[in-house]
Amino acid sequence: MSLIEAQNRVLSGMRPTGRLHLGHYHGVLKNWVKLQHEYDCMFFVADWHALTTHYEETGIIQENVWEMLIDWLASGVNPGSATLFIQSRVPEHAELHLLLSMITPLGWVERVPSFKDLTSRSHNERDLSTYGFLGYPVLQSADILMYKAGNVPVGADQVPHVEMTRDLVRRFNHIYGRDPGFEELAEGAIKKLGRKNARLYRELRRDYMERGQQESLKTAQALVSDQQNLSHGDRDRLIGYLEGGGKVILPEPDVLLTETPLVTGLDGQKMSKSYGNTIRLREEPESIEKKLRTMMTDPARVRRKDPGDPDKCPVFDMHRIYSDEDTRKWVTDGCTRASIGCMDCKKPLIDSVLKEQQPIMERARQYEDNPNLVKSIVAEGCEKARIIARSTLEEVRTAMGLDYR
Ligand code: TRP
Ligand code: SF4
Repeated sequence: MSLIEAQNRVLSGMRPTGRLHLGHYHGVLKNWVKLQHEYDCMFFVADWHALTTHYEETGIIQENVWEMLIDWLASGVNPGSATLFIQSRVPEHAELHLLLSMITPLGWVERVPSFKDLTSRSHNERDLSTYGFLGYPVLQSADILMYKAGNVPVGADQVPHVEMTRDLVRRFNHIYGRDPGFEELAEGAIKKLGRKNARLYRELRRDYMERGQQESLKTAQALVSDQQNLSHGDRDRLIGYLEGGGKVILPEPDVLLTETPLVTGLDGQKMSKSYGNTIRLREEPESIEKKLRTMMTDPARVRRKDPGDPDKCPVFDMHRIYSDEDTRKWVTDGCTRASIGCMDCKKPLIDSVLKEQQPIMERARQYEDNPNLVKSIVAEGCEKARIIARSTLEEVRTAMGLDYR
């Protein structure tokens, strides 16, 4: 796979540390379902990442791996469009993690916010002062770079990890991409473009290097990737040469920031397992109805005749996600004038939550009834992932001079 094709690859993972809830559904899964039509998507269960924090509770991981995969499939992630796999079933991730760890400055991992926060929080019940947890962002970098993913859809909390991946890959290319004679090889590759294209390439490169013209860089990249008669090595060299440095062995990933609609939990805080305020994606409809009926409302609205303020009510946050404009207007009018009660207000919400859940439950059923179906989807995904992983590792080993065999 060429580096240009890699720009079309999306990779993301999720830790199997609990059952997925509506926060995951609206925040992550719907986005994955959309992306799978636009990109070459790879989604994986980050079980080793779960182990960095849950090494004493591996039962939780085991339980949630398959449930999480069912949740993905039930939400509409389509194994025909996206590759689904489990991290530990592609052990190449461990080797790349190890190799990257050699060039990771200690200061970088110590500075990552998730590490600083979690290890300094004294009330944290988990012991996170481990070597494994320190390496968390390096392992994540390995995940991303293994597939040369150009795009990584994550929420804001994960952005520092992708940024560290970018720093790391720049360092990697800088250290290992400058094979001796790189310039001569690149110049040789330019000649192979033919006279006209070689001149165009040089002009565009100068335009970018001297004046920082992003457009010229893009045009030149397209020019190079169109050259079917060049070897992969020459193409990658020419792409790398455009930006001045060595050969780009591994590309820098971009964050595809997920615009997470903030899903409010039953108590008005952000929906999160640790607050115990969630509605599970595949929760039984009766239980969902009960939770919503007893869900917190605007605390100022004590009696039916007290007017309320939807902006101070978690139920209205849910309406923002689930209801159309007419319904929201009906709620706002009725609430502020006390012409509807909170039960009236919740009724259409309950209906639409259940309505959106119904096809998810139906899709889930075929997988729940037939665990082998999930297993074979994943087996196929792991096989596909391994083929890519093996080939990246070959390149990395060669670049690092580890190809004596
Ligand atoms: N750290 C991510 C999270 O907690 C999960 C993850 C692991 C991931 N590897 C990744 C996400 C690679 C994106 C890309 O959500
Ligand atoms: Fe909240 Fe609706 Fe009750 Fe108003 S009427 S307080 S928006 S539940």
